[in-house]
Amino acid sequence: MTTRVTKAVIPAAGLGTRFLPATKAIPKEMIPLVDKPAIQYVVEEAVAVGLTDILIITGRNKSAIDDYFDRTPELERHLEAGSKKEELEQVQAIADLADIHFVRQGEARGLGHAVGVARRHVGDDPFAVLLGDDIMDPEVGVLAGMVRAFGERGSSVLAIRRVPQDQVCLYGSAAVEAVPGEESLVRIRDIVEKPDPAEAPSDLAVMGRYVLTPAIFDEIDRTVPGRGGEIQLTDAIRSLLAKQEVYGYTFSEGRFDVGNKLDYLRATVELALAREDLGPAFRGWLVDYLGRS
Ligand code: UTP
Repeated sequence: MTTRVTKAVIPAAGLGTRFLPATKAIPKEMIPLVDKPAIQYVVEEAVAVGLTDILIITGRNKSAIDDYFDRTPELERHLEAGSKKEELEQVQAIADLADIHFVRQGEARGLGHAVGVARRHVGDDPFAVLLGDDIMDPEVGVLAGMVRAFGERGSSVLAIRRVPQDQVCLYGSAAVEAVPGEESLVRIRDIVEKPDPAEAPSDLAVMGRYVLTPAIFDEIDRTVPGRGGEIQLTDAIRSLLAKQEVYGYTFSEGRFDVGNKLDYLRATVELALAREDLGPAFRGWLVDYLGRS
C-alpha cells in the first residue's frame, strides 16, 4: 500500500433529519453558505491538499449534488452571450474542480455502510473521508496535517477535538495516549460511538475527517448495526484498532457541523465576514443590528 493519499470519499447520502424541513427536498450538503453549497467547501478542502480523485456517496433525493458538479452548457451559453465573464468562470470552475465520481448508497444504513460503498472505487489505496456536512477552515490545516501524518506513519488518522462534557454523547469518543515527540498526534487506544456519559472514554470526540487504510473495508463488512441501528464507522475503526495502529490528530478550532442549525448559522456568519466582497458591508450591518437588538 502506498502512503501517498490522493483519493477522497465524501459521504453525502444521509437523511439530514436535524435540518428538516429544508432537507425534505434539498440535500443538506447542498444548502448554501453565503453563495456556495456546503459540499463545495468540502470538495475544495480536499483538492487543496492534493486529493483530486473524489468519490461522492449520494442516495435517493440527492441528484442535485450530481447536477451541481456537472457541466451546464445552457447556462454557460447564456452567461457567455450576456458577457457575464466572472459568473461564467465560476460556473465552469465547479465542474473542473477535480475528478469527481458518484456512487449511490441504496439505503442510508449509516456512515460505516456509506464508506463501505466506496470499496470498489478505492481499491487497495489509502483514502480520506470528509463528511459532506462538515466544513473545516482550510487555514487551520487539519486535513493537511492528517495526510502528512499518514505519509509518515502509514496508519489511519482521525481528526479529534475536545468537547464539553454534555456533548460527548453526540460523537465517537476516543481514549488516547501521547506519542513521544508529537504535539498534535496521539495514539488511539479505544473508541466508542455516542457513549453514555458514564461510559465515555474521554472528552475527545472524532470529527468529520478520517484518513484510512483500505483494511477498514474488511472491518466494515464485519460490522453489525450499532448505535441507532446504523452500521457505524466508529465500530469498524474499533475493530481495526485490534490489528493496526490508529492515530488521532488533535485540533481545536475552525470546524462547523452544518447539518446542525446553530452551527450552520455560525458558519454562515463567519464565512460572510471573511469575504472581501461582502464582509465589510455585512459587518457594518451586523454591528448596527446587534446594537439595536
Ligand atoms: P450524520 O451523522 O449527520 O447523519 O451523517 P444524517 O442522517 O445525514 O443526518 P441527521 O443526523 O439525520 O440530521 C454524517 C455524514 O455522513 C453521511 C451524511 O450525508 C453526512 O454527510 N451519511 C450518513 C451517509 O452518507 N449515509 C448514511 O447512511 C448516513
